[in-house]
Amino acid sequence: MIKTGTISYFFRDQKGLERAFDSISWSPNPTIWSAGCSAGQEPYTIAIMLAESLSVWKFKNLRIFATDIVEKFEERIKKGVYSEREVNAVKTNKENKWLFEKYFNISNDGSYEVMPEIRNKVFFAIHDVLADEPISDNFDMISCKNVFEYFNVEEKQRVYKKFYNALKPGGVLIIDPKQRNKEFEAPTNLFLRICKDCVERVYRKR
Ligand SMILES: C[S@@+](CC[C@H](N)C(=O)[O-])C[C@H]1O[C@@H](n2cnc3c(N)ncnc32)[C@H](O)[C@@H]1O
Repeated sequence: MIKTGTISYFFRDQKGLERAFDSISWSPNPTIWSAGCSAGQEPYTIAIMLAESLSVWKFKNLRIFATDIVEKFEERIKKGVYSEREVNAVKTNKENKWLFEKYFNISNDGSYEVMPEIRNKVFFAIHDVLADEPISDNFDMISCKNVFEYFNVEEKQRVYKKFYNALKPGGVLIIDPKQRNKEFEAPTNLFLRICKDCVERVYRKR
């Protein structure tokens, strides 16, 4: 049975993403895969954060491929329209409020719209990380958060191997910080964990 939980929101794991970005030696054309992206909150968050931290020309070349096993990218999402609940963490956080003001428009109906300069960095597609091959073998970074919990041990290992093959040499993988059971860690023959004592789980491809 396909499990397709939809709960996601903007700036869900800001610290983890910051740690991942700090560890990346960006290509001239930075390329990211957000796997299991739900309705786009995560890839748009990545684009907003990188708009502030990449050089102007690298941000110009940035592409984020955002995939999910089921179609959640209906017109609303491609237009970047979200509810109060989905933007709350960036809207109400004292330190992030300016990002909200800079990158979101408030629509007449009370929803919030991500600015086009962020939207046009993200390309949505349907993709099953278990069954389908990765769409590139040269990603600077893969983000796959709150997705591994759906997989059994064998499936997790299979997906880690795929991510290994999809990353460029030295590329960075970030998964969600919360589960700590050993079987959930990325295999050490494929990935080196950056900051072993941190809650965030960021790995570099060996
Ligand atoms: C809980 S959401 C996480 C969304 C986002 N990554 C986050 O952390 O906020 C999990 C997503 O994984 C997707 N998913 C589940 N199995 C998948 C698979 N085999 N391939 C791709 N996506 C999958 C679900 O459809 C769902 O949108």
